[in-house]
Amino acid sequence: MAEFTLTVNGASHVVDVVADTPLLYVLRNDLRLTGPRLGCGMAQCGSCSVLVDGEEIRSCVTPVSAAVGKRIHTIEGLPGLWAGKNRFNGTETVDTLHPIQQAWIDVQVPQCGYCQSGMMITAADLLERNPNPTVAEIKEAFTNAPPSPHLCRCGTYTAIIEAVQRAARAMVV
Ligand code: FES
Ligand code: FES
Repeated sequence: MAEFTLTVNGASHVVDVVADTPLLYVLRNDLRLTGPRLGCGMAQCGSCSVLVDGEEIRSCVTPVSAAVGKRIHTIEGLPGLWAGKNRFNGTETVDTLHPIQQAWIDVQVPQCGYCQSGMMITAADLLERNPNPTVAEIKEAFTNAPPSPHLCRCGTYTAIIEAVQRAARAMVV
């Protein structure tokens, strides 16, 4: 066991764990952030995705030691990320979802919901790199981009495309 200091959703946390513990386990079990989900545990489904320095990674195969010194954001941290970008005041920060989360609600994307935090994390990564993606680029981000496609057993893919486009429009306003 060793102590690791992690910056998660803008706050610093010290955890005492084995160095190769998956980041996902630390987020869920030690920090009680249950947005990222355990699906395959093998970097093959995307349900555990989080942002590390703004890029999506699969937290089920990322050792906690590899995340030290980096900015980690889970789905719970998306409102704060958006608030920081727009310099919201305190009240606005508390009351405002990230446009991606709002778009997911407006389009009613989730069915069982299990995969959806990973889907929104990928949308955040995509829209940061490409604020106005084409349908082909959205499909690419959720399917062919490494390490694997994001899997949704409920088949919400069409709604995801619509929600990403809706979020993209909201984020340029
Ligand atoms: S649980 Fe990490 S990619 Fe499936
Ligand atoms: S909404 Fe059920 S697995 Fe995606």
